[in-house]
Amino acid sequence: MKHFASVATAGLLSSTAYAAPQSISPSSCPTSPPADLGWYPPNKTMINDLDRVLYGGDIYGYIFNSSTTPPGIPYQTYNWCNMPHARRQEYTTPPSVYSLKYVEVIHRHHKRTPYASNTFPVETGTWLCNDESLYYYGAPSDNNAAQIAWSITQSPTNPFKPTGFQNSTCQFPQITSEGLLDSRQHGADLFGIYHDLLSFLPSTFDPEKVKFRVTNNVITSQVASQIATGLYPSLAGTRLPVTVQPTDVDSLEPQYPCPASDSSYESYGVGSDDPSWREHLDAPETTQLFAELDRVSGVNTSDSDWHNWFDHYFDNLSAKLCHAKSLPCNINDSALCVTPSMADAVFRRGLYEYSYIYRDSPHSLSASVASYGVYMAELAANIRAVMDGSSEVLYRHNVAHDGSMSRLLSILQVDVMVWPGMGSEIVFELWQKASSGCWFVRVLWKGQPLRSSNPMLGSLDMVPVDALLGYVDGLVGINANKVLGLCSEES
Ligand SMILES: *[C@@H]1O[C@H](CO)[C@@H](O)[C@H](O)[C@H]1NC(C)=O
Ligand SMILES: *[C@@H]1O[C@H](CO)[C@@H](O)[C@H](O)[C@H]1NC(C)=O
Ligand SMILES: *[C@@H]1O[C@H](CO)[C@@H](O)[C@H](O)[C@H]1NC(C)=O
Ligand SMILES: *[C@@H]1O[C@H](CO)[C@@H](O)[C@H](O)[C@H]1NC(C)=O
Ligand SMILES: *[C@@H]1O[C@H](CO)[C@@H](O)[C@H](O)[C@H]1NC(C)=O
Ligand SMILES: *[C@@H]1O[C@H](CO)[C@@H](O)[C@H](O)[C@H]1NC(C)=O
Repeated sequence: MKHFASVATAGLLSSTAYAAPQSISPSSCPTSPPADLGWYPPNKTMINDLDRVLYGGDIYGYIFNSSTTPPGIPYQTYNWCNMPHARRQEYTTPPSVYSLKYVEVIHRHHKRTPYASNTFPVETGTWLCNDESLYYYGAPSDNNAAQIAWSITQSPTNPFKPTGFQNSTCQFPQITSEGLLDSRQHGADLFGIYHDLLSFLPSTFDPEKVKFRVTNNVITSQVASQIATGLYPSLAGTRLPVTVQPTDVDSLEPQYPCPASDSSYESYGVGSDDPSWREHLDAPETTQLFAELDRVSGVNTSDSDWHNWFDHYFDNLSAKLCHAKSLPCNINDSALCVTPSMADAVFRRGLYEYSYIYRDSPHSLSASVASYGVYMAELAANIRAVMDGSSEVLYRHNVAHDGSMSRLLSILQVDVMVWPGMGSEIVFELWQKASSGCWFVRVLWKGQPLRSSNPMLGSLDMVPVDALLGYVDGLVGINANKVLGLCSEES
């Protein structure tokens, strides 16, 4: 039954051509042929090459142990701790016949402590967060409030010890002090392009023109507070409204109910018996790796959360490395430790899994379209509102999660899929040619034009706006009017 839902949805989307509704562009503008809504496989690279994943001994020169990409290594290089984003140093300005009209940024929050579910049953070492403050408070209409700062305290009298770290002063998760500073730099880098270089953003903050949006998970608000400060230092210490949708329907996270997408992912991905998914988990190299990891961590070998995929070990190890902590050792035997090569083997498998779930599987497109279609439609509506003159917003900034970024990359059919690391960013730029009034879009991923495997999208570098809008409309409908149907199990 579950499998049927995903196949039916995939069939509905594949090879369907879709003609965009009447365009807002002048009729003399370049038109796009009807959108091709089919799924196209990603490039064959080391990331999705199972032999390389199982038998390779490295992590492709990718960075997992510092927010700073060392000098001499291209900034473009994958850095799990702080992914490359658009910066003035690498930014290419389109020819001056184009003028910038709208920018929408979406990115994953910056580096954090691990989620509690990803900590080992008993942890050696600890995480301290006394070097930062997290504020939570409410203010009535007079706006008076003490700025309540949480001090995470483990009580010696409370017999229930939290799993994970003894004596920790952190929440699991929370953005770390270093992650907050990475966020601030990210904001400053974007200001360097969109204000300093392009004179597009106003010099002083204008809440009608610059908008922020977060998800229900408080870690995105922690990041937004520093992104905003990086963009506009004068916002520090001021009241800054950000939008957030009700928890159970949040389209940015995403959180709206979408059973057809859930059962599709479950039919071919994590927890499924699909042989092409199981292959990397059942390989002897992986069985042995899990056994060695479990011996160090004390994780129950039959705990499926830890063995259905590499997510938990990946998060546990990478969060440590990103914060310059050493790889973990067994609590009873300090000589029995996770080695760097075991960590690399975990990271190769994690990247492979994200590529498989969001791009390599032919079911990935329909599962992502259903579960992230609402955000796509909101983006299309934001772009249209600028084009038809009904919106004066210049810039929207969304702080989201890896699940948001993965689905978005899945829908755009990025040619090489990775697990979107901390701070990973996609920028949508809307440009207008002054002489003709025609509209164009550019989509930046890691700060460079994103290349889609879908030939009708191709390199998303100053393409006629209808190429993107027609594709989004075709998949999710205007105002996401197809998404309720795509999410229902009967579809
Ligand atoms: C993916 O393959 C296409 C076509 O061969 C190539 O143009 C593109 O550069 C490749 N992408 C990456 C990131 O290597
Ligand atoms: C990170 O790992 C690389 C490769 O193992 C190593 O050369 C580098 O010194 C490490 N950097 C830090 C900051 O630990
Ligand atoms: C991962 O587990 C080890 C082993 O107990 C622990 O020392 C380490 O702090 C954990 N790291 C994270 C990021 O959860
Ligand atoms: C936690 O604090 C207690 C009391 O100070 C101390 O005895 C214990 O060794 C600490 N545990 C760790 C893992 O640091
Ligand atoms: C440490 O030793 C205790 C007592 O023998 C045992 O119960 C526990 O499972 C061991 N923990 C690990 C992670 O090996
Ligand atoms: C591991 O999990 C299984 C299944 O939940 C349980 O029966 C077993 O007792 C657990 N083993 C340990 C050492 O906790």
